[in-house]
Amino acid sequence: MKEQLEKIEIEALEQISLATDLKHLNELRVTYLGKKSTIQSLMPMMGKLPSEERAAFGQLINGVKTRIMTKVEEKQKELEALELQRKLEKETIDVTLPGKDFRAKSFHPISIIVDEITNICLGMGYQVEEGPEVESDYYNFEMLNLPKDHPAREMQDTFYINENTLLRTHTSPVQVRTLLKHNGVGPLKIICPGKVYRRDDDDATHSHQFYQIEGLVVDKNVTMADLKGTLSILAKKMFGEKREIKFRSSYFPFTEPSVEVDVSCYACDGKGCSICKGTGWIEILGAGMVHPNVLKMSGFDPNVYQGFAFGIGVERIAILRYGIDDIRYFYTNDLRFLNQFSKER
Ligand code: PHE
Repeated sequence: MKEQLEKIEIEALEQISLATDLKHLNELRVTYLGKKSTIQSLMPMMGKLPSEERAAFGQLINGVKTRIMTKVEEKQKELEALELQRKLEKETIDVTLPGKDFRAKSFHPISIIVDEITNICLGMGYQVEEGPEVESDYYNFEMLNLPKDHPAREMQDTFYINENTLLRTHTSPVQVRTLLKHNGVGPLKIICPGKVYRRDDDDATHSHQFYQIEGLVVDKNVTMADLKGTLSILAKKMFGEKREIKFRSSYFPFTEPSVEVDVSCYACDGKGCSICKGTGWIEILGAGMVHPNVLKMSGFDPNVYQGFAFGIGVERIAILRYGIDDIRYFYTNDLRFLNQFSKER
């Protein structure tokens, strides 16, 4: 029996040292040490031996088992290291392959202008407000001094969800929403950039959707001079230090007096060119002093508080700034157009 065990040990150690992979090694472990192995089958014989031989046999068989087991463990470490090495060699990265294109893409020109104007206004102490694009007739018109059947509604026909719900025609309803939030107590100083809608022809200069930035200031002793000073700073920051602005009288139901604001032409310095159509001036926005009715309806006492408001057309500013000749470029997502703004900001 002793000889048999020695033979098994020699054979096992040799086989194990020849194992080429972990699977094979595991099979060998099962063959030599598993439940059905020869060594295991010799175990019951121990009981049949005379007691003086039993201890020696036990030592012998355990010694064989331990040596085989140790060899398996050594071999396992060796094979694992080899396998890792093989994997590392196989999975090397070819650093000469062309990489993915991770260049930063451009911002949309409308975003660029909105951010720029927002930053200028933040610098003057304005806060940014938001309002819904799906708006009620009440906020979009009635609370802005445009009751039902008011003729000025004609200029702002829009898409109706139902009789009282529509896509907002301007960002001015955010004036009302903000005033109501302040419960008749000023001061407040906000802008609201956002998308607006109107029933309109879609051509090079018209679109049924566009962007506006609304501005509203309400405080005690606010005058038209404050409006002019504010818009003058805005114009200079947007179009250059030499720019001047001028007011032309206009009409909006929610401001009184109302003005149309022109900026002196940045291209010809006011001399007259094709961009300003020979006039030296370019129209950039509508504005005015908040109508007392609007203040009153939203809970502000017009004898205590005054305010001014303005509404900037974002596309118009972008068109002037970048010399864009068709408003539809903004919405058709043509990369040849959009990529031209990658160096902006
Ligand atoms: N809401 C006006 C429009 O869309 C613009 C405007 C805003 C005029 C604020 C005056 C004051 O035409």
